[in-house]
Amino acid sequence: MRVLHCLLALAPVISAQFIPGGSWGRPMSNPGPYNNCSGTLTQVPTDAAVDTLPNISPDGQNGWERWDLTIYQSDILLNLRWLQGDPSSYTSVPADGSFEVSARFANGTIFHMRITGEKLTYTNSSPYSISIGQNTLTWDDSQTWYNTTLNLNGLTGSFGTESIMLDKFSPYAGWIIGQLTEGLYNDIPVTRGHTHAGSIRFPSGQEVKLTAQSVLLHMMGEQPVQSLAVNYAIRTFWSIGATFGDTFIYESARAPNSSDYSAFFLGRAEVRGAGFERYPIYVATDSNDLSVKRISHTSTEAQMAGCANTNYVPFTWNYTLPLPVLEQFDSAGGRTTFYAFSRISTAEPFESEYVSYQGGTGIAYIYQTPGATVVDQ
Ligand SMILES: *[C@@H]1O[C@H](CO)[C@@H](O)[C@H](O)[C@H]1NC(C)=O
Ligand SMILES: *[C@@H]1O[C@H](CO)[C@@H](O)[C@H](O)[C@H]1NC(C)=O
Ligand SMILES: *[C@@H]1O[C@H](CO)[C@@H](O)[C@H](O)[C@H]1NC(C)=O
Ligand SMILES: *[C@@H]1O[C@H](CO)[C@@H](O)[C@H](O)[C@H]1NC(C)=O
Ligand SMILES: *[C@@H]1O[C@H](CO)[C@@H](O)[C@H](O)[C@H]1NC(C)=O
Repeated sequence: MRVLHCLLALAPVISAQFIPGGSWGRPMSNPGPYNNCSGTLTQVPTDAAVDTLPNISPDGQNGWERWDLTIYQSDILLNLRWLQGDPSSYTSVPADGSFEVSARFANGTIFHMRITGEKLTYTNSSPYSISIGQNTLTWDDSQTWYNTTLNLNGLTGSFGTESIMLDKFSPYAGWIIGQLTEGLYNDIPVTRGHTHAGSIRFPSGQEVKLTAQSVLLHMMGEQPVQSLAVNYAIRTFWSIGATFGDTFIYESARAPNSSDYSAFFLGRAEVRGAGFERYPIYVATDSNDLSVKRISHTSTEAQMAGCANTNYVPFTWNYTLPLPVLEQFDSAGGRTTFYAFSRISTAEPFESEYVSYQGGTGIAYIYQTPGATVVDQ
């Protein structure tokens, strides 16, 4: 069994110029899994809604920041990207904003549209928003919904993404909130989204009604991404159950000096009445609670320690890397691949009563600099 190595010896030097308010860049005040089996949310940052605002000022001198809303249903994978600056450029200027729609239809057709030269604007009180051109993401302090309106070059859309977990996840390498590797920040403001209540209309006139699963990923750096990581993989898996659904996020990254980092989140949404109730189980960068082993060339088993109230039965997630659905190359030759998982098998203990064997789905982003190998598939 390969136990993940996680070096937490990063120098606690904060160089990034954060806009005040959010939690990124702050030292982790209470190190360790902030929720070790407790099922309560006492330590989730109260400023989580503010965290999704820009951390880099659109008028700043350098750096880049992006928000990717990735939406997947059987007939389409859609990625919407709000971007400040160029993540792979040493001379990135945040005022160079762009908005990008990428889609892959079930028949393999790829759609791509991008507008550039529009500076990001934002609203920093609830309801919060970010916009590039007429493409806006809106949310409020409750963070229940992240709503999108689109209007670019004949493409229009209006839909909502409901956050079922009502929780967000940030890694904390070196005990700095948000750090995936030193200087590379990310969080997942919507770990388990249900995108619905609307549709997207392509310039061809084709309208796609959305009833999809989604993730919102937020990332930024003051230096180009390739100088902060040679690769990273950010995977979000969902199980689909009748009375509860679990979400497992597993992030791993390698810094240019070969240090490896990992972070993970395991949370549960239980069906209560008409809605869901969140029940986080673990958030950690601690390798003791997660073990990952290869089953075959493309299949992996990730197992997490159980909890007292589940008789310490481990949580298990088996996943097989599917074919890539979308690939994007940046200006330095770095490749980001999007994967949509449609078949995952899980074993999830439920209270002390039984172990539920469920199917699942998921979305992953895997980045690698030219010539780098993927840290762990
Ligand atoms: C890589 O850099 C980090 C941060 O400066 C340091 O803590 C770590 O020990 C380095 N790793 C190696 C393998 O040199
Ligand atoms: C989490 O709780 C379990 C059970 O009390 C304990 O064995 C484990 O060491 C804890 N993990 C961490 C990282 O604190
Ligand atoms: C593939 O599907 C898309 C969306 O339904 C459609 O616009 C396109 O014409 C199809 N392409 C082919 C080659 O069938
Ligand atoms: C988002 O859309 C939903 C569904 O239409 C609505 O109930 C909610 O109030 C909206 N929230 C925000 C912040 O726009
Ligand atoms: C995961 O795969 C391993 C190895 O094939 C198998 O023993 C285990 O039962 C599987 N677990 C689940 C939850 O599918």
